[in-house]
Amino acid sequence: MAVLATPALAGSGSPGEPGVGDPYFPEAGNGGYDVSHYDVRLRYQPKNDLLRGTTTIVAEPTKDLSAFNLDFALEVDSVRVNGLPAKVSRSGATELTVEPKRTLRRGSLATFVVKYADKPSEVQVDGSTPWKRTSTGAVAVGQPQIAEWWFPSNDHPSDKATFDISVAVPNGTEVLSNGEMTGRSQRGGWTRWNWRMPTPSATYLAFLAIGQYGISGKTGAFDQPMITAYADGLGELADPARASVERTPEVLDFLSGLFGEYPFESQGGVVPAEGLGFALETQTRPVYSPGFFRIGSNTSVVTHELAHQWFGDSVAVRDWPQIWLNEGFASYAEWLWAEHQGNGTAQQLFDHYYSLYPADSEFWQVKPGDPGRENLFHGAVYDRGAMTLHALRNRIGDRDMLRTVRAWYEQNRDGNATVEEFIALTERISGQQLDGFFDEWLFSAGKPQVGERAGVPR
Ligand code: ARG
Ligand code: ZN
Repeated sequence: MAVLATPALAGSGSPGEPGVGDPYFPEAGNGGYDVSHYDVRLRYQPKNDLLRGTTTIVAEPTKDLSAFNLDFALEVDSVRVNGLPAKVSRSGATELTVEPKRTLRRGSLATFVVKYADKPSEVQVDGSTPWKRTSTGAVAVGQPQIAEWWFPSNDHPSDKATFDISVAVPNGTEVLSNGEMTGRSQRGGWTRWNWRMPTPSATYLAFLAIGQYGISGKTGAFDQPMITAYADGLGELADPARASVERTPEVLDFLSGLFGEYPFESQGGVVPAEGLGFALETQTRPVYSPGFFRIGSNTSVVTHELAHQWFGDSVAVRDWPQIWLNEGFASYAEWLWAEHQGNGTAQQLFDHYYSLYPADSEFWQVKPGDPGRENLFHGAVYDRGAMTLHALRNRIGDRDMLRTVRAWYEQNRDGNATVEEFIALTERISGQQLDGFFDEWLFSAGKPQVGERAGVPR
């Protein structure tokens, strides 16, 4: 934990905390300010992985601040706060402490300008780096921490902000990121790509994919711009990848019919050639590891990542123990899509998973409502998480279930939420006491007992 050198003098404010107090990741995020916008301006050379950047942060101090932290792992050249040079020191592998010349006043707007240069693939924390180099570029996609390897931030989902992301790369290289592409310009052998995310996003949902891509722009669902990109060199996976990701508009239509209006103003998907091993619901434009398409066309993973646009991205977790709100909902959306496609019913999928794991399986030992830091992406968060929603639906009925899910989105759109708030909403809408139900499904180890139909009291 960072120890700040300067004691707070009377009237000169006090230092911001080095974390927001996340129970799983105590150093994630920072106290004392709220970011409203990131302007991330980079230059990247794929040949040697050199990343140079200037990130400008617009933030509002939530108290009088004598110093504050930024989450960042790369080597920093300078920091200016409100135009004046500030003192900066590293106070942890991913923590910088900044001491501005003048105390920042609560409620005023402050700007932080950080200049840096480093090779992110060589910056290891706990023996690894989430920044992945590929044969033609790099991919910055990760959860829960990735921002530290490409821009300084308040890296916690509780502080959402809008983004401008601009990257110059050697001519002939492509850059994909979130939201809308606002322009491209060439100068002296370099092409600068400009992207803009106008709806607040969690920091981990901002992404970069740099390399050789075939990009297509068309009109997607809701008459919005849709940008998809497939890495060169996908080989036999190129066709199934396209056959899946190009169905994005159809899946978004289906999901918006269930959940409500699509949260954002653009859409799409990116498939890098290598170096990922998972998919991520990067805001507006998920990134899919090509391995998902080894089985052929795979609209399940597309549905999963697109469902996250509502649950995960727009309705974001307040802190990481709430991860079930993301993964349970996205996994259940896969079941609903399967049913919609005529590939079995949600009840059949419930029965399948329920019998797949015997009572003594380790699977049932993980509590989806509090899986622990090391089990953030455990199968139980996903599959027992989806089973929980199906059992709830059986318990309160289709009509109240749909009302609950829609109200959940409507009330928390562009915000942050907790499992506790979700439980309260289900009880309010159904008029039932559901503490025991959620205790058994989300907060207890062991296999919940079910009757004829899960969720229906025996
Ligand atoms: N939220 C992502 C998904 O559902 C999971 C990302 C897993 N992250 C990781 N670093 N393995 O689909
Ligand atoms: Zn997911």
